[in-house]
Amino acid sequence: MSNNIRRIGLLTSGGDSPGMNAAIRAVVRTAIYHDMEVYGILRGYQGMIEGDIFRMQTTDVSNIIQRGGTILKTARSKAFATPEGMARAYEQLQKHDIGGLALIGGDGTFRGAAEFFRRYSIPAVGMPGTIDKDLAGTDLTIGFDTAVNTAVEAIDKIRDTAEAHDRLFIVEVMGRDSGYIALNSGIACGAEDILIPEVITDAEDVLCRIDFDERRKKTVHILVVAEGDDMGGADKFYELITRRFPGLDVRTCILGHIQRGGSPTYADRVLASRLGYAAVMALRENKTQIMVGIRNGELAYTPFEEVGKRHMPISKDMLQMIHVLSS
Ligand code: F6P
Repeated sequence: MSNNIRRIGLLTSGGDSPGMNAAIRAVVRTAIYHDMEVYGILRGYQGMIEGDIFRMQTTDVSNIIQRGGTILKTARSKAFATPEGMARAYEQLQKHDIGGLALIGGDGTFRGAAEFFRRYSIPAVGMPGTIDKDLAGTDLTIGFDTAVNTAVEAIDKIRDTAEAHDRLFIVEVMGRDSGYIALNSGIACGAEDILIPEVITDAEDVLCRIDFDERRKKTVHILVVAEGDDMGGADKFYELITRRFPGLDVRTCILGHIQRGGSPTYADRVLASRLGYAAVMALRENKTQIMVGIRNGELAYTPFEEVGKRHMPISKDMLQMIHVLSS
């Protein structure tokens, strides 16, 4: 049964991720197709508080499906975490007569949403947009595939120069609480070791494996570490490794924000289009206060409170094969 929401607000929030523009395009075009008006809210919740809100037309989203970043801009709003900030945001929604919200973002976005909707009643649907893939209720997030491909391309290049110089490289990839980028890019690039926040790192094990490779004259060793690993990032491992093996030629490379930019892969464009379309359909069908995700290839709906709690478990088989495949 379709409801009578006539005007929706649309925002992107938190760290940007490649494919957010494709999701914006899908939301705008689906909503307008179904006779709804779309109001873009700039800079996420911060723009909601400040009333940075404008009417969007289908032409506003022309030629953006292939672009990284987000045309709506994004922010991590501290003010929105306060009762006063939320009250001002709600006032702005009322002032613009916005009857529903479509939110694209990561864990912080959904934690903010859960709290906001406990206080104020307005139908809302979310879409998972984060390179970290650290959300419950979805097997995929918009931007993850592109970020992993960016990391893979970079690590392949690093291996070329590592090979030429017989060097050990420590590559740090993004992932504050999540090792998905590290695990997937590391496996795809044949990394000798992969360290992620979900698994307690045993420094002695890491050093033993380096020692073993040295003894058997395996001269290139690529260690991929997620920035959120419990032991620390690339700098921490550089210190540990060079202290134990002063004769080794070691370099670090922190990939950083290049993982967040760039043209989205086809997989992220299709995912974002699918989720953007599904989000508007969910709003129309009164499936609200949920994030639309993908589970086992199908659309899945998870309440906001659940989304940011924990992410999907890392597959055991992937962890087990790291050292077997690089042996
Ligand atoms: O979007 C998630 C993320 O990319 C994390 O992996 C990383 O820790 C963080 O954002 C970096 O955020 P910022 O761009 O605010 O430095």
